[in-house]
Amino acid sequence: MTSALQIRPALPADWPAIWPILHTTFASGDSYPFAPDSSEADIRHAWLTVPAATFVACDETGNVVGTYYIKPNQTGLGSHVCNCGYVVAPEAAGRGIATALCGHSQQTAVAMGFRAMQFNLVVSTNTRAVRLWQHLGFSVVGTLPGAFRHARLGYVDALVMFKTLTA
Ligand SMILES: CC(C)(COP(=O)(O)OP(=O)(O)OC[C@H]1O[C@@H](n2cnc3c(N)ncnc32)[C@H](O)[C@@H]1OP(=O)(O)O)[C@@H](O)C(=O)NCCC(=O)NCCS
Repeated sequence: MTSALQIRPALPADWPAIWPILHTTFASGDSYPFAPDSSEADIRHAWLTVPAATFVACDETGNVVGTYYIKPNQTGLGSHVCNCGYVVAPEAAGRGIATALCGHSQQTAVAMGFRAMQFNLVVSTNTRAVRLWQHLGFSVVGTLPGAFRHARLGYVDALVMFKTLTA
């Protein structure tokens, strides 16, 4: 999959393909803090408008199979650290797409002048994501007790993860 994967900037015309992936993921209430019943308009704003840039991963047939955004994690004196969010279509999981997206995002971050990347709310029970980010060089720098209200498990810990991108 990854050899045929194309990662490119998201276009407005990609939204009808991006939305079902995000909707399915956020409706589960187990990985992102977006309310599971968030409206399409609110999620479109959060994913396409607010970030500095948004990308999609397309498979060999051109279908969108994943997406990520990148934005400054803070304003002003904290704006050299970026924040990203990644979602892969459930049916395309386990093929290295998130690995490719995260690698692409780190290159994008450096090109945009960011010096580090921070994930603010990695759900501790999302062990697949935690392990993947650690594998890609991110460290758990903090645990936020009960900071995520998991749709099935209730209050669970969230992790702050960080990776320095430039020496
Ligand atoms: C978590 C998530 C981003 C992972 O995406 P993914 O594309 O399945 O991730 P990858 O395939 O790159 O890596 C996952 C695993 O597959 C393995 N893998 C990578 N390339 C592979 C390949 N070609 N074939 C088989 N497995 C592969 C990776 O080593 C990794 O294994 P590990 O879990 O033992 O470390 C995805 O499941 C998702 O979108 N979940 C919902 C949203 C979410 O949780 N986002 C992250 C919030 S912090």
